[in-house]
Amino acid sequence: MMKDIAKVLFTEETIAARVKELGSQINKDYEGKELIVVGVLKGALMFMADLIREIKTPLRFDLIAVSSYGASTSSSGIVRIIKDIDMSIENEHVLVIEDIVDTGLTLKYLMKTLASRQPASLKSCVLLDKPSRRKTEITPDYSGFSIPDWFVVGYGLDFAQRYRQLPVIAVLKPEAYNIGNSQEKEES
Ligand code: PRP
Repeated sequence: MMKDIAKVLFTEETIAARVKELGSQINKDYEGKELIVVGVLKGALMFMADLIREIKTPLRFDLIAVSSYGASTSSSGIVRIIKDIDMSIENEHVLVIEDIVDTGLTLKYLMKTLASRQPASLKSCVLLDKPSRRKTEITPDYSGFSIPDWFVVGYGLDFAQRYRQLPVIAVLKPEAYNIGNSQEKEES
């Protein structure tokens, strides 16, 4: 698998240090409060698992899965919930955890949908941000790393569902995906 990697962008140590920093910031901001953390499947799995272990605030977590309507999704912005959270978030402090914000359409839709359920507060925490790809105005409340428009995999991020188990975040060799340089939504 490592043969498909052009370069490692963030090592395990770098990721862990940044996750720790994000955890400290969240601990400060939510001191004395309780949280509901909503992880977005599948990409946020590793990030959420590591981040919540840095959070000292009492929390409950749930998972949500969204899917795009086929190939036109990234332009249409149509997102569909394929697995909703099980718990009510009304009057709760909610933190949405995403692996990456690219066009911003998924996060925007999620925030709008969750906001309509009347939480006490609603914020987002993303590990990676690609601001140059944005198609809608949205800024995550917490962001791990800002990156250029590179195709990245690992630590939960996939290409065609593969490479998620890499402990690092890496750039794939073009020949490994061969579809141009935008983060296509393959098979998800
Ligand atoms: C990725 C990522 C975000 C979304 C970001 O999910 O986890 O949910 O794309 O893209 P956007 O800002 O352009 O909307 P993906 O559909 O690849 O599913 P996955 O998490 O299961 O890999």
